[in-house]
Amino acid sequence: MRVLITAGPTYEPLDPVRFIGNHSTGKMGYALAETFAAAGAEVHLISGPTSLPDPSHPGIRTQRVQTADEMYAAAEALASAADIWVFAAAVADYKPAHVAENKIKKAGDTLTLELVKNIDIAATLGKTKRPEQFSVGFALETENERAHALSKLQRKNFDLVVLNSLRDAGAGFRHDTNKITLLEADGRVTIFELKPKSEVARDIVHTVLARLSHHA
Ligand code: CTP
Ligand code: CA
Repeated sequence: MRVLITAGPTYEPLDPVRFIGNHSTGKMGYALAETFAAAGAEVHLISGPTSLPDPSHPGIRTQRVQTADEMYAAAEALASAADIWVFAAAVADYKPAHVAENKIKKAGDTLTLELVKNIDIAATLGKTKRPEQFSVGFALETENERAHALSKLQRKNFDLVVLNSLRDAGAGFRHDTNKITLLEADGRVTIFELKPKSEVARDIVHTVLARLSHHA
């Protein structure tokens, strides 16, 4: 079984010393890589910049990227051969329209940046998904959580979406714990307790493997 995982943030350069990015430690994606590998899968982890070391499990190959465009190129090259896609990365939604060749010097009291939308990696690959492939997405929401997560499931052709609510204490990017709800394309909803991210990864992997045994 081959698993493709995106993880961590992306950094979109503004000039040689600055970038736009998201808060993301990469812990959830790395924990998923470890858990899939422990279950015997061959894992390809495409990681944005994180402070985590490459996972040491021999079943995991880690490829480092910086930008959303690089993450997409790496994922696109591997997607067709993978049985499972897991989009755990916190991809920057926009990138600077122009990257300055030299450091932008401080001038004036305000600075306006022009940003352009990044490619949606999950949605773009979702259009190429074959019936036997299984796609997992994440949704971090602060309001109308389930509705937003379900619209992402449809828009990005996910089979399963992992919903994190920032309203749940102890959940999200600032914590080592997470409280998730799994929403599936067939309408199934599973609510989990607050737990360490390693155990959350096990819950997600168990659910994916259980579904895959019935899939297509
Ligand atoms: N995603 C992606 N490429 C992007 C943006 C998001 O692959 N350019 C993936 C994320 O890895 C995640 C899912 O899509 O699995 C949802 O990400 P999210 O940021 O919640 O969705 P957006 O469509 O960007 O919507 P918004 O940020 O406006 O809520
Ligand atoms: Ca986003």
